[in-house]
Amino acid sequence: MSKITISAIVASAKNRVIGDGEQLFWKISEDFRRLKEITMGCPLIMGRKTWDSIGKPLPGRASIVLTRNPKWQENGAIKASSIEEGIIIGTNWLKNNGSLKKEIFIFGGMDIYNLGLVYCDYIYLTEVDMYPDSKYVFPKIDPIKWKVTFESKIKKSSEGIKFKFLTYKKITQK
Ligand SMILES: NC(=O)c1ccc[n+]([C@@H]2O[C@H](COP(=O)([O-])OP(=O)(O)OC[C@H]3O[C@@H](n4cnc5c(N)ncnc54)[C@H](OP(=O)(O)O)[C@@H]3O)[C@@H](O)[C@H]2O)c1
Repeated sequence: MSKITISAIVASAKNRVIGDGEQLFWKISEDFRRLKEITMGCPLIMGRKTWDSIGKPLPGRASIVLTRNPKWQENGAIKASSIEEGIIIGTNWLKNNGSLKKEIFIFGGMDIYNLGLVYCDYIYLTEVDMYPDSKYVFPKIDPIKWKVTFESKIKKSSEGIKFKFLTYKKITQK
């Protein structure tokens, strides 16, 4: 099997805020469409709180849910007790499902981005032109470690919110 890529996918405000602890501050249909397109056929590693906020498995993808509660279980979720276990489960899921894609997504929220970013080679970022007040943020993207490989024009969502898409690639030391 060819190498598996691990990527983070996130929508964050310009001040790095990703949510209020339970949900997002925005609804951007174009972003949901892009997220679906990028992640379809792939395993998603998310925290139990993000799972609760979505409330169901996302179709066509594996929902791997991190929790410290050994008794936790929900229909459609695959439990993991560490990010490393989540990555192993995701790798096996890709093998067993014969998926054409070879990518595992670090899907949030804040705890899981903090644990998972070190394993990522790419970040798919939707930068939302807002400055909400919240302690739930995406980690700082260090320009020494990451370079922008794609940046869209500024768009306006059908809900009237300005945003743009960026892709970052980890700079590998030679
Ligand atoms: N904008 C975006 O792209 C985006 C994406 C995803 C989520 N979000 C937002 O992020 C916010 C939630 O973030 P959050 O940080 O509070 O929650 P989270 O990361 O979704 O989930 C946190 C939970 O994950 C489990 N966990 C954390 N560290 C663990 C570890 N080391 N080992 C095992 N389990 C671990 C714990 O579950 P237990 O308590 O069950 O033990 C913890 O309560 C929400 O507002 C959500 O809407 C935004």
